[in-house]
Amino acid sequence: MTTKRDFLQLADLTRQELDQLFARSAVLKADRRARKTHQTLAGRTLAIVLEKNSTRTRLSFEAAIHQLGGHAITLATADSQLSRGEPIDDTARVTSSYADGIVFRTFGDDRLQTLARASSVPVINGLSAGGHPVQLLADLFTVIERLGTLEGRKVAWVGDGASNMAFSWIEAARIFGFELRIGAPKEYAPPASVLSTVGAGARVHVVSDPREAVQGADVVSTDVWTSMGQEAESAERLRVLGGYQLDAALLAKAAPSAIVLHCLPAHRGEEITGEVIDSPQSAIFQEAENRLHTSKALLELLLA
Ligand code: CP
Ligand code: NVA
Repeated sequence: MTTKRDFLQLADLTRQELDQLFARSAVLKADRRARKTHQTLAGRTLAIVLEKNSTRTRLSFEAAIHQLGGHAITLATADSQLSRGEPIDDTARVTSSYADGIVFRTFGDDRLQTLARASSVPVINGLSAGGHPVQLLADLFTVIERLGTLEGRKVAWVGDGASNMAFSWIEAARIFGFELRIGAPKEYAPPASVLSTVGAGARVHVVSDPREAVQGADVVSTDVWTSMGQEAESAERLRVLGGYQLDAALLAKAAPSAIVLHCLPAHRGEEITGEVIDSPQSAIFQEAENRLHTSKALLELLLA
């Protein structure tokens, strides 16, 4: 019997597997354009369990498994016994007796770990407080598509440096060795516990001036200032992060060939302007489409 593989963070795959996943994503993307179909996951069932809202994660995983010959079942907390207090480990044991894999979107990473431990099938982190690794697969693949390689790139992250997306970019910088400059106020800088994971030699720098972070960058990325579950802090976040908007003037500091990423949903006019989202430098909707192709490659790797 083979042991199940989870994908709770990027480092759950080897560097070689990640490179293979990007290569496979490119094939699956080209095949979809050519209307070539696949049955690599025929008969497989994917359970998608959501404790927070989702558009892209839900739709891309549902479409991905369907397009590979399998089937998805999505369970939102409000409709399930989770909202009435059923323990997450009981839920995991039952769900893994029906499905061949589970995508789980939740709050704390303790819930994710508990579900993964109690599940007998692969568990995929569909976003938690600690990271959003499936989004990074799409983001990194988009950088490769647009710029050719990750090696030697300068990536700038502006705004909330303590968000799940920022944490996953830090993890990606460690694995792929690119330079990451985070421009964040001290109130929302990455905590020492996260920065200490990058190790000596990793090129991750935190600065408080967003212009310093963006200067000469090849990739500029940001995320909402108020993540799901932080709504009560919204006014304070808006106040502290107000100077970190990714607008045309800030983007002008980057390399002329720089691309812009945002995982979406965006609050246009808050962390990023509509002008930047819709600009020729924006790869944001390509990035969103790539969620489909990279999720397919991930499902094949874990479930086939
Ligand atoms: N980027 C992302 O995960 O989007 P959703 O919240 O819509 O799934
Ligand atoms: N940081 C955001 C990402 C949404 C995809 C959140 O957690 O709400």
